[in-house]
Amino acid sequence: MSKQWATFGVDLHVEIDPADGRRNGLEHALRDAIRDGRLAPRTKLPSTRALAAEVGMSRGTVSAAYDQLIAEGYLTARRGAGTSVADVTPGRADSPRPGHDPAAPLYDLRPGRPDVTGFPTAAWLRATRRVLGAAPASAYDYGPAEGTAELRGALAEYLGRTRGVLAVPGQIVVTTGYVQALALLARLVAASGRPAIAMEDPGLSFHRDVVRRAGAEVLPLPVDEQGARTDLLGGPSYEKVGAVVVTPAHQYPAGVTLHPARRHALAEWARHGGGLVIEDDYDGEFRYDRQPVGAVQGMAPDQVAYIGTASKTLGPALRLAWLVLLPRLVGPVTDAKLHTDHHTEGLGQLVLADLIRRHDYDRHVRSCRIRYRRRRDLLVERLGPPSLSGVAVRGVAAGLHVLVGLPPGGPDEAEVLARAAARGLALEGLAGHWHRKGDHPQGIIVGYGTPPESAYSPALDTLTAVLGIAGGRS
Ligand SMILES: Cc1ncc(COP(=O)(O)O)c(C=O)c1O
Repeated sequence: MSKQWATFGVDLHVEIDPADGRRNGLEHALRDAIRDGRLAPRTKLPSTRALAAEVGMSRGTVSAAYDQLIAEGYLTARRGAGTSVADVTPGRADSPRPGHDPAAPLYDLRPGRPDVTGFPTAAWLRATRRVLGAAPASAYDYGPAEGTAELRGALAEYLGRTRGVLAVPGQIVVTTGYVQALALLARLVAASGRPAIAMEDPGLSFHRDVVRRAGAEVLPLPVDEQGARTDLLGGPSYEKVGAVVVTPAHQYPAGVTLHPARRHALAEWARHGGGLVIEDDYDGEFRYDRQPVGAVQGMAPDQVAYIGTASKTLGPALRLAWLVLLPRLVGPVTDAKLHTDHHTEGLGQLVLADLIRRHDYDRHVRSCRIRYRRRRDLLVERLGPPSLSGVAVRGVAAGLHVLVGLPPGGPDEAEVLARAAARGLALEGLAGHWHRKGDHPQGIIVGYGTPPESAYSPALDTLTAVLGIAGGRS
């Protein structure tokens, strides 16, 4: 016998094994559903009468099964409130929580994520209430491929004010994360007469793969202490290059800011050679030591496709990013977007637009900047000067990560990562970021955005111990 039944408010499929007998079979099925989380704490169960009718048992049998599970602590019964799954149930403490990875590290200093525990939940909820309270029915329908007018309007104003981006709403296309914006542009370049894209080396290998899968060839563009070698772009090795992807505000992963001469070289290459600059401004909001470095797009709006994202300021789960395009690309990119996924989810766009318009987004970014700056300061202080620590910390002026250079002759990347893993600390080395083969400098990319506040200081204790710096917890 296999039955399916409905509780008040939740649908649940339970398998009642006939070999167990009626009452035992029902008990087992409910116990299993509670243990493995299909029936959540405080879920209200049906009355004995309703359940008896549904599973074809007597009311007494169902009542006896409930009583047994109440005695075991799986269920609770209150007069007038019926029977519910208990708040804390036996066996649940050691059973895996949905979404919790038992192999997760104790401390996580890998780059790429913000502190998601700082998500502005209250402001997001208030904005959602306002937006849905006022939204016309069309907000729930298909929307424009380029994104909602509300968000594009809010972004045009915000990006001009905070990042020096020259944009009118008509040039903005909202995308599902940076990764989709990159893929859409790469497809257009791949179909052009110059189908290669130059990408910073070192850089994110995932993004190189995205570009290759879009059909374009990837050519490495070396990075030095002044940022990407944009001065090389006019040379013969880059003749096939139709576009270059750069992270000018805070190179990923080296952390350098693109030198003004290199910004100039980039704009000149694009202007004279007809190439496209794809500007990845993934953490441009977080600049600590000076005024934010404005976007390259502001100095060459007819050559640069600017991409910003909410992944660092709010959270990667939103999958919200924005492209500011040169006029000739608005039509082709919008068409490619339409044929990829119609458009990015619309309600989140309206909520973000509301947050930006009311300056709640500014307030949130400002408070994050203060918090991350404090973290950055603590990290730099704990690592100490290179003369004492033996490691060189680079890329501290901005963003959510620094590059810790490992000196030759000391432990290499693999050794540091292994020592860290043995202490429950997740770190990321530079190794996977190189495109060109060869003997590259050794380094660890330390992301200080990820840990929740309470875990940050102990994470740094472990990091300094792993790097052999005095004061670390061994
Ligand atoms: C270099 C770089 N660019 C862009 C992004 C943002 O990507 P997305 O908007 O797809 O989350 C990240 C996120 O970690 C990044 O590291």
